[in-house]
Amino acid sequence: MCGIVGYTGADAAQGILIEGLTRLEYRGYDSAGVAIEQDGALQVVCRKGKVSGLVHTLSHFDFAGTCGIGHTRWATHGRPSEANAHPHTSCAGDIAVVHNGIIENFAELREELAARGHAFKSDTDTEVVAHLVEEAYADVGDLQAAVAHAAGRLIGAYGLAVVCAYEPGVIIVTRKDSPIVVGRGERGSYVASDIIAMIDATRDVVVLADGQVARLTPDAIAFFDEAGRPLDPPVTHVDWDLDVAEKGGYPDFMLKEIHEQPRVIRDTLAGRLSAGALEIDELDLSPEELDLIDRVYVIACGTSYHAGLIAKNLIEAWARIPCEVEVASEFRYRNPIITPTTLVVAVSQSGETADTLAAIRDARVKGAKVFGITNVVGSPVARESDGVIYTKANKEIAVASTKSFLGQVVSLTLLAMLLAQAKGKLKTSQVRLLFRELADTAEQVERILADDAAIQEAALACKDASSALFIGRGMGAAVSYEGALKLKEISYLHAEAYAAGEMKHGPIALVDEGFPVIAIATKSPVYDKVVSNLQEAKARGAMVVAVATEGDEDIRAHADHVIYIPKVRDAFSAITASVPLQLFARAIAVARGCDVDQPRNLAKSVTVE
Ligand code: F6R
Repeated sequence: MCGIVGYTGADAAQGILIEGLTRLEYRGYDSAGVAIEQDGALQVVCRKGKVSGLVHTLSHFDFAGTCGIGHTRWATHGRPSEANAHPHTSCAGDIAVVHNGIIENFAELREELAARGHAFKSDTDTEVVAHLVEEAYADVGDLQAAVAHAAGRLIGAYGLAVVCAYEPGVIIVTRKDSPIVVGRGERGSYVASDIIAMIDATRDVVVLADGQVARLTPDAIAFFDEAGRPLDPPVTHVDWDLDVAEKGGYPDFMLKEIHEQPRVIRDTLAGRLSAGALEIDELDLSPEELDLIDRVYVIACGTSYHAGLIAKNLIEAWARIPCEVEVASEFRYRNPIITPTTLVVAVSQSGETADTLAAIRDARVKGAKVFGITNVVGSPVARESDGVIYTKANKEIAVASTKSFLGQVVSLTLLAMLLAQAKGKLKTSQVRLLFRELADTAEQVERILADDAAIQEAALACKDASSALFIGRGMGAAVSYEGALKLKEISYLHAEAYAAGEMKHGPIALVDEGFPVIAIATKSPVYDKVVSNLQEAKARGAMVVAVATEGDEDIRAHADHVIYIPKVRDAFSAITASVPLQLFARAIAVARGCDVDQPRNLAKSVTVE
């Protein structure tokens, strides 16, 4: 949450910072601001609201300064306002700080600093950092040492970038539990919360580790450990196409990313089958070690949790290992049964989610082996897990997760197959067949994307509803949860999901004339049961939208709108059935005039608990 950028080099910083902030806006859009060195002073401009507001204001200034920092905020301490927008400055306005994270001991620090005469202008936790640096700078006269001293006083999570009017061209950055990448381009040095902000300038970055400090100057970046000793950290190369940051002709990133899903499936599967056997070398466990696993927990939040629900079905069906799926924020505060033969699978698109990270740490302390499934190379989830599968979704910009979700589902499906293979529950020939059918889903998703007329029609019929119910059984139940989440987060239309069998135990009371019930009614072992539930809803006046298997004409008798999808094995039906629900949610959000890429109150990486 919150995005930070910085640039020092040969060019004017203003445009570079704005470009970076625009790309980081998915991390929060409550306010935005920059601090740019100009004529020996720091020019600080902040605006409440989206980066576009800041762009408008800055157009009146057009600063020529070549060093600066910027921030786009998701409010934690202090409401969204101009006063609470970053950068925050010292009393004299000669030191400016941008911060991503939470300073847990800010209240004590603020009291202590106030007692020494510091006056505060905002309600944020971040402002104490500017004052701590100011005090330390007065003592040591060196920005790097002052930032290191201030960081030593902080409890919590932080990614920090700091500039000082007396050290022109210098940006000092450091971090703990919040991401920071730095990189050198041909015309200067860059820092950001995410490489997407600097991808035009470089694809070779250093992902700063906790406690490390980087000193950026126009010609170089120097790295230091906590004690100030020089370091030579590894460089990470990112090979995305530049077009991840562009809409590529689509009206929004969400639609573009939905359409990327066939590629995500193909890339996630590429190179995984060798001589008929499944291989996931990154997991670094021998077949014998995999065979010992006798319990699996999938821990995740939100959409990633729904991917976990799908995985549970597969792990239990194929590998016959008991599997529990838990939201990370609950898992970490329970005392789950963990032994050395427990596998914890942590699923996180961003690889930064605070609760998931904390759950990983707890699980490892308790002796579990932890696999991460993430989209972000070098992210905390990747670094803190024993092994990692990258989902190959590439950067996802729309706040609502679509292609990352599908990448997670495909990766978890591979993991389920791998466990089953190691346990001897799936023969080589079965693995080969399943793999081929899994690969075929890429083409099946392409077919769904090629014709969305029925989806648009159903969306139009539902767009004015005030609430909707999603139902399904088995795989369909997991898909329903995700469908309801997608709808509510981008269209603000209230939606709930239930295992269809639960409907008559309460939720059916909601149903009256015209109430939308969206059902996953694909051909599966529970098809007849779902149809019975549809009939119950229809009998009470529901407007039924059914996601059904191509060729199933009978379903028309029970539904007002039918969205057909290609026939696939039930195990893979979550992959195909999720796609129309993504398009359905988006179509409703567009019809209701919502900003589908940046829904209110949300941010893409949730780094607070
Ligand atoms: C919804 C969505 C969120 C995330 C959740 C976890 O579309 O994207 O529910 O799934 O915040 O985020 P990650 O996967 O980054 O841990």
